[in-house]
Amino acid sequence: QVIYLNGEFVTKENAKVSVYDHGFLYGDGIFEGIRIYNGNIFKCKEHLNRLYDSAKSIMLDIPLSYEEMEAALVETIQRNDMQDGYIRLVVSRGPGNLGLDPKRCPSAWVIIIVEQLAIYPEEAYKNGLISVSVSQRRNIPDALNPKIKSLNYLNNILVKIQANLAGVGEAIMLNSQGYVAEGSSDNIFIIKNDVVYTPPCYVGALEGITRAAIMELCDKLGYTLKEIPFTLHDVYVADEVFFTGTAAEVIAVREVDGRTIGTGKAGPITTHLLEEFRKLVD
Ligand code: PDD
Repeated sequence: QVIYLNGEFVTKENAKVSVYDHGFLYGDGIFEGIRIYNGNIFKCKEHLNRLYDSAKSIMLDIPLSYEEMEAALVETIQRNDMQDGYIRLVVSRGPGNLGLDPKRCPSAWVIIIVEQLAIYPEEAYKNGLISVSVSQRRNIPDALNPKIKSLNYLNNILVKIQANLAGVGEAIMLNSQGYVAEGSSDNIFIIKNDVVYTPPCYVGALEGITRAAIMELCDKLGYTLKEIPFTLHDVYVADEVFFTGTAAEVIAVREVDGRTIGTGKAGPITTHLLEEFRKLVD
């Protein structure tokens, strides 16, 4: 397995960054999680657009042009002979003296890791996930805009810790106003009376690329989709609930906070959307 490390291809053992890397020291950096299906990078343009937007927002100068970045992704996939897998693309502020001033870092570092990644067990895709809501909140407005896919994932990790403590695969984070925001690393959809709902990003969610693909599918398949804030009550009484994410893909939720969702398994619209999503990627 080879890793792209700032323009070089190195083995996993030699893939090291400096302890003075500001991505490590201060979380000063951004990242993307991207899927490879049948050797193709799924939604490459959308992921790279989001990456460069995140970079611009934190004034991080990526040393590769869009085209060079795409070429680096393609070459890393080819060198790893990866047909189906997952790319972790990281751009850190790079090494610099101690002190959080980005001016201390002469150049950003680009890292591309290609791996297999399954964040939920196969069983959960078959039977649906059990989930809970947690006390960890996304502040609105958040000091760090959730549209920036930054290396500051402690808020999400604290959600994941509470999911672990509850013994479930994923947890639902609310925002400081009590509206449902998203999961620790995926967006959320609910379905009620054949209408599909997902929180608008201003509620405090990453503008997910899988979320966007599902929204397009709803449009194409003629499902009414409403991007409006909703609460845990709406989740509990929903007919169907599912999460979406590059790593998660599309996964049904069968129970939230002890409330069985619908019939306690993937609902008909979730199943239909999942089938159509699979056609997009296969
Ligand atoms: N990211 N929300 C959060 C907080 C996430 O971290 C992710 C995905 C999503 C889903 O976004 P997208 O559909 O663009 O992947 C929502 C993890 C690392 C991933 O799945 O790669």
